[in-house]
Amino acid sequence: MFSFKMLHNLKNGATINSSLIRTASTTQPLSEKQEVNITFVRANGERIKAKGKIGDTILDIVVNNEIDLDGYGACEGTLTCSTCHLILSKQVYDNLPDKPTDEELDMLDLAYDLTDTSRLGCQIVMTKELDGIEVKVPATINDARA
Ligand code: FES
Repeated sequence: MFSFKMLHNLKNGATINSSLIRTASTTQPLSEKQEVNITFVRANGERIKAKGKIGDTILDIVVNNEIDLDGYGACEGTLTCSTCHLILSKQVYDNLPDKPTDEELDMLDLAYDLTDTSRLGCQIVMTKELDGIEVKVPATINDARA
């Protein structure tokens, strides 16, 4: 604990052990609070766990974790390829904060294995509420630019 006496001594030129100085009052480091987890499930059932930060797109998480998803994110999130197609559970799909834009829907039309709960990973921004979601990676991808 930091006492009035210590403060007084500090004012008078004494030094203090830095471990006695209180820092942030939060119970968790900031980085942990902003961290989100996601699991990618390949068509063969293989599960890949990854971490990202609030505000990352799912594409950001794939890139930052160097996850080997062949061809994923070819257009780097510019909505021109559809290689970042993911299949979500209905619950996750319905609870995403943003609905797909017309541009995303147009690009999804070009994706293989399209479902009612398909989205493009480059358009999904992670929030705290999405921490721990699972997303399915389709067996085949289509690069709409090809
Ligand atoms: S990365 Fe190309 S559309 Fe998402």
